[in-house]
Amino acid sequence: MARLRRNLAPKGNVDALAGARVAGWALGRGPLSVEAWVGDRCVAHSFPAIHRPDVAHAYPDHRRAATCGFAFDLPAGAIASDALAELRIVARPTRRWLPSATIASFQMAGDGLERKLSEARNGSIVGPFPKQVIDAIAAVWPEECADLGSVAGQARFAARVKQIMLTPGLNALPVFADYARYLATTLAHCRFVERHFPATNRQAEAGAADFHCKPNSVRELFAIIHQLYVLKSWGVTGDFAEFGCFKGYSSAMLSFACSQLGLNMHVFNSFEGLPPAAGSGYEAGQYAGGLDEVRDHVARFGAINCVTFHKGFFADTFREWRPPALMCLWMDVDLEVSARDLMVIADALDPRSSLFSHECNASIFEDGHIITSPSPDNPIPPMLARHEELGRPLTGRYVAGYTGAFWPRSTGIPVVDTEVLADLARNLGV
Ligand SMILES: C[S@@+](CC[C@H](N)C(=O)[O-])C[C@H]1O[C@@H](n2cnc3c(N)ncnc32)[C@H](O)[C@@H]1O
Repeated sequence: MARLRRNLAPKGNVDALAGARVAGWALGRGPLSVEAWVGDRCVAHSFPAIHRPDVAHAYPDHRRAATCGFAFDLPAGAIASDALAELRIVARPTRRWLPSATIASFQMAGDGLERKLSEARNGSIVGPFPKQVIDAIAAVWPEECADLGSVAGQARFAARVKQIMLTPGLNALPVFADYARYLATTLAHCRFVERHFPATNRQAEAGAADFHCKPNSVRELFAIIHQLYVLKSWGVTGDFAEFGCFKGYSSAMLSFACSQLGLNMHVFNSFEGLPPAAGSGYEAGQYAGGLDEVRDHVARFGAINCVTFHKGFFADTFREWRPPALMCLWMDVDLEVSARDLMVIADALDPRSSLFSHECNASIFEDGHIITSPSPDNPIPPMLARHEELGRPLTGRYVAGYTGAFWPRSTGIPVVDTEVLADLARNLGV
């Protein structure tokens, strides 16, 4: 029965929706009316009569195909000035017993919405999204920015962002187009690196811990990539630092993001593998990648122009020297001793900065508290202790895989929930 109805239902397409004009074709078993619906109101209709030789060519046996084109204008005020609504184009047979079909649907915005979103003022709501995106949405839907600290509140906010990204006109506003372009471009790049980066370490035995050259997932690294955009939008200045690069897999993805944002990236590594650390379960020299090898990988898979490499064990590199101001750091260093050695640079971090670390699992995050205890293979306690010492205790959330995100509890810009971010990126068509 359902199949029969499908066979009897009209088919068609909307080829153009430009301003108020709707144009396309529709073809059924008999004469049709094409209707534009907003919610439960039919706001316009038309009878197909325009010549469509292309459709006639595609459906040579259909006698109405040659004149199945339609074009009509939506009336002024079809969508209320401040509304965001779904417009459905329905092909309805004039013989009422035949089924009708929705041949296209679109998000449409009323005239006033574009102006309101683009003229949004500098607001005071802080959250894990770009500041200008929060300000724009708060100008129209303040209730959707009211709970950006909770996952449910972030999901509600992201649902609105997704809707705007699907709405012609609104999705071209600079604030939304810039954000969508960054997310789409960097995620596509991550997928390219994931696919093409060398999978195995020629210097290691099969089965060794460092045999695989891709120890992080796109999900983990994309959380950092998103946060770089967010921090920049909040006016947090400084460079981005990566500690621990192995063969340069994460460096390739993160350097590309930095190049998109005009940020400098620093990569700190011994380029000789891990230092000795008794009781850690690791061996000295594991996860070694030579400087030339990593440089070559970052040039081939990332954006080498924004990267400065700093060769040396952290204890030596930071014996006297300190890095420039930093907005964000990512450490994947495996060892407590390494985190302790590098955390001497923590005062270079902006008080609103974010930190990401590997060697985290979900269980250490409890309602914004971080519950973890010292051990030779745990780099988190030295990071927490150093920030306590600086008077900036950290809070955080689990990201994915073995990655966690941290930020100063009272001054930091929070990091978005990973599932909310993944859903947003999926809906941008990447
Ligand atoms: C697990 S790997 C990093 C993986 C990397 N994020 C990736 O995506 O491939 C750890 C790296 O940290 C470096 N490392 C650890 N402790 C260090 C220290 N104290 N000084 C310098 N480099 C260190 C090692 O050389 C190693 O390459």
